[in-house]
Amino acid sequence: MTAVKPGDRVVVPFNISCGTCWTCSQGLQSQCETTQNREQGFGASLFGYTKLYGQVPGGQAEYLRVPFGNTLPIKVPGGVPDDRFVYLSDVLPTAWQAVQYAGIPQGGSVLVLGLGPIGDMATRVAKHLGAGQVIASDVVPERIARARRNDVQVIETTKQADVVAQVRDMTDGRGPDAVIDAVGMEAHGSPLASLAQKATAVVPDAIMEKVMQVAGVDRLAALNTAIEAVRRGGTISLSGVYGGATDPLPLMRMFDKQIQLRMGQANVWRWVPDILPLLTEGDAFGVDEFATHHVPLEEAPQAYMNFREKKEGHVKVLLKP
Ligand SMILES: NC(=O)c1ccc[n+]([C@@H]2O[C@H](COP(=O)([O-])OP(=O)(O)OC[C@H]3O[C@@H](n4cnc5c(N)ncnc54)[C@H](O)[C@@H]3O)[C@@H](O)[C@H]2O)c1
Ligand SMILES: [Zn+2]
Repeated sequence: MTAVKPGDRVVVPFNISCGTCWTCSQGLQSQCETTQNREQGFGASLFGYTKLYGQVPGGQAEYLRVPFGNTLPIKVPGGVPDDRFVYLSDVLPTAWQAVQYAGIPQGGSVLVLGLGPIGDMATRVAKHLGAGQVIASDVVPERIARARRNDVQVIETTKQADVVAQVRDMTDGRGPDAVIDAVGMEAHGSPLASLAQKATAVVPDAIMEKVMQVAGVDRLAALNTAIEAVRRGGTISLSGVYGGATDPLPLMRMFDKQIQLRMGQANVWRWVPDILPLLTEGDAFGVDEFATHHVPLEEAPQAYMNFREKKEGHVKVLLKP
């Protein structure tokens, strides 16, 4: 290994990409042909995931075995707290890709469904990249408050008819140019995800029972809201993870509205050259204050529980091994 040496500060992307194969050279690191899980019919391996994505031990530990030492770690400068760079592994490139895939015209409008870490960050990135109107929908009070502090227009409901009606009112009756789906819940109503959940204890239980009751959420509910809300000829960008091979989609409606749809796991390295300067020259996305809780590794199980139940304002937890 020559690219990094002991003492270097690095961030390791959540997807495991070789950096040298054909798909990696196309900026499609989440489809890396070297780490693809062909037997399972799945894309590139992910740290801390089930057999479907390679079953590679995850990074919430004091030590991590990192394959492709010369090409996978992202070298970052020292001198500022970890908070500044840690989101390069996942949250920032995921939100960045969601916004890129949304194809919002300069000065145009976007509706972000879900104000978890991914949706919240997507609102910040959308503003940075020139969206004129950033609207979001969620029902969790502290998440709504965070977004409002960043001048996001928040629709305080997740009921499809209400979200669609309100967002149309805000966008000349047409609907936004793009909708980003950043809703969680991959574990409910999806055969793939419930299988994934049974297969591992590493992946945190992503089911948010309380929100289920409050918001009546299921994965397709969010996607259907996106399909109804987006303007004709607009784009839907999915970053929320979908599973299940038989989920029905309203294809006629999508065809008639001429909707464009883009999705996928974040290609982390694809966006690093764009994002890294925005972290070294300052704090363009407010990441220094992004985490709501910092806890030692021993408290991780409790923190996961609090995050799942959205207790005590848990929006983003950083573990300090
Ligand atoms: N594509 C990728 O590479 C990638 C990377 C990381 C995370 N993700 C996925 O992104 C999604 C969001 O992640 P997160 O950590 O921000 O999740 P989260 O669970 O913390 O937040 C989701 C939010 O959506 C809200 N919500 C639920 N139903 C809704 C609806 N119908 N309309 C609007 N809001 C609704 C919830 O109240 C919650 O605040 C997850 O599915 C996660 O797996 C994808
Ligand atoms: Zn590769």
